[in-house]
Amino acid sequence: MKYYFAPMEGITGYIFRNAHHACFSGVDRYYTPFLAPGSGKGFAARELRDILPENNRGTPVTPQVLTCREADFIQASDILAGYGYEEVNLNLGCPSGTVTAKGKGAGFLADPDRLDRFLDNIFSELSRLCPKLRISIKTRIGYGSEEEFPALLEMFNRYPASELIVHPRVREDYYKGKPRMEAFRLAAGKSRRPLCYNGDIRSVTDAENVETEFPGLSAIMIGRGAVAVPWLMEQLKDGSGKENTKEELLSRFAVFHDRLLSGYQEVMPGDRNVLFKMKELWDHFGSHFPGAAKELKRIRKAQRIAEYQEAVRSVLQSTPSLR
Ligand SMILES: Cc1cc2nc3c(=O)[nH]c(=O)nc-3n(C[C@H](O)[C@H](O)[C@H](O)COP(=O)(O)O)c2cc1C
Repeated sequence: MKYYFAPMEGITGYIFRNAHHACFSGVDRYYTPFLAPGSGKGFAARELRDILPENNRGTPVTPQVLTCREADFIQASDILAGYGYEEVNLNLGCPSGTVTAKGKGAGFLADPDRLDRFLDNIFSELSRLCPKLRISIKTRIGYGSEEEFPALLEMFNRYPASELIVHPRVREDYYKGKPRMEAFRLAAGKSRRPLCYNGDIRSVTDAENVETEFPGLSAIMIGRGAVAVPWLMEQLKDGSGKENTKEELLSRFAVFHDRLLSGYQEVMPGDRNVLFKMKELWDHFGSHFPGAAKELKRIRKAQRIAEYQEAVRSVLQSTPSLR
């Protein structure tokens, strides 16, 4: 089975991806948070930094594009192919109101005729312009209801996407409630494209359950679970019996943490921005340290890097419950 690190805006930028790839194995591919090219303008400077080859050396990366304009998707794909990327992923899942209001992300699913024309255009144009470039699709199962999914699936089946990544929730679900597995079963039965599952995998057991029920999957994509448990894909690839001891995991986690911190310090001006980033990550990491509520609070309250590092040291010295 292949394992993908899901795109996560604000989290899985190149500093995170490179630090993770240097410290943990098992991830076959990292997806960039969405790049939203401006009309005819290509990428913003911040987006370019995330995909420049020199910032991604040695890490297997697929850039993701969020747009509902054919010309922008084609231009973005052409730029990305020029940088050497072999695959571009189309975002049809983002539930954020500002995105869906413009008919992008999961908002695009609400207008299937328009989406059909978009897919028709981009696949035919790109097969001519960048014949080697693969286009994959990451989608939800509908905008308002999962009853939309059979028709969407039929539409996806008509285009040569290299992979269909399905997060079985509708836009209205955001990230809440349980994944709608009935719809995913339909995808597993009817998708003519390689099919990747995404949603709520937080442990080896969760992944094994999905793999057992859907043996034909091409891949499993993991987001929040892999931020919280950065060694999850490594355990999945190696077999869960071969995990490191708690001490080993903790010391590898500390190295990962330090790489993230120094990586952000190198590119971000001022402690405030760096601390904001690190604190966001601790919302995920914190689950391993249930006995360290006081120390975790010190992390959240830290205003200076030195104060933060001291709080992190005391969290790491508490008794972790590493899974
Ligand atoms: C903070 C956050 C940011 C996200 N950013 C993106 C994004 O840029 N592109 C995308 O396709 N999905 C994005 N997602 C969705 C994830 O890729 C994934 O589909 C979702 O979290 C479900 O998988 P998980 O349960 O393994 O986390 C984001 C999710 C979260 C929580």
